[in-house]
Amino acid sequence: MTHVIVLGNEKGGSGKSTTAMHLIVALLRSGRKVGAVDLDLRQRSLTRYLENRRKFSKIKGKALPLPVVSQVETSSLDSREESKHRETESLQQALIALEGCDFAVIDCPGADTHLARLAHLHADTIVTPLNDSFVDFDMLARLDPETGRVAGPSLYSEMVWTARKERAMTGVPGGIDWIVMRNRLSATRARNKKKMGEKLEDLAARIGFRLARGFGDRVIYRELFPMGLTLLDLGGKGAPMRLSTMSHITARLEIRSLVAALNLPQPDVREEAA
Ligand SMILES: Nc1ncnc2c1ncn2[C@@H]1O[C@H](COP(=O)(O)OP(=O)(O)O)[C@@H](O)[C@H]1O
Ligand SMILES: [Mg+2]
Repeated sequence: MTHVIVLGNEKGGSGKSTTAMHLIVALLRSGRKVGAVDLDLRQRSLTRYLENRRKFSKIKGKALPLPVVSQVETSSLDSREESKHRETESLQQALIALEGCDFAVIDCPGADTHLARLAHLHADTIVTPLNDSFVDFDMLARLDPETGRVAGPSLYSEMVWTARKERAMTGVPGGIDWIVMRNRLSATRARNKKKMGEKLEDLAARIGFRLARGFGDRVIYRELFPMGLTLLDLGGKGAPMRLSTMSHITARLEIRSLVAALNLPQPDVREEAA
């Protein structure tokens, strides 16, 4: 069975594509077979990231691990129902094409689209990166402006709730594990960081997600995109780039820590021995 990991948040710029790419490479480098689906058909950041990787690998003559890419098409037929139907089939086909993979990583757009909703129904694990801002927090829950307390769930958490419910009704065993991770954590804005942390911990239990330690705000994430590289490709003999600063080393630890926190299924030992 392919374990489906969905990167979702109805908000652009929270780090979905960057995290998707790092998860893909982390899993590939641990010897797993990985499929990738880019559902952000407008920005196509994950697709571009992977294209850059392919090109960089060719130019430098250095083999870099790559996922199996499966394409999905949006539909813009006059009939909305027919469009939805086509998209449903397109995603199903894309996932069928990845059946031989251990993992399928689906990167969603930062908006509520039919394809993004569908992807959440297929998810075994949802990863939601969140910028350290109360504007991003608002996607998960509304805060009472007077008391600052959580007043109720918001757009995105309601969407995950619906996906969980619908999935339970289909009788597919196992629920959806939802992990929220903070992204672009600043080293200086300590007060905001602490406040967000407290609110998120409070919310985690109430709406049913696990909170993972996130990523710091580091220029390296932006610099690696044009080469299609991730922090997991750096350092070591023959690496295309060196891990040059303490910040890079810490960033790599943050990624390893996220992968560990996801608690993903491990390879079957009997299979490995065969
Ligand atoms: N931890 C980080 N530190 C610095 N820049 C980051 C970090 N995570 C993402 N970015 C940058 O923020 C922007 C948005 O990230 P992206 O992964 O494209 O978000 P999304 O897919 O949610 O829209 C990109 O320019 C990306 O390079
Ligand atoms: Mg994106």
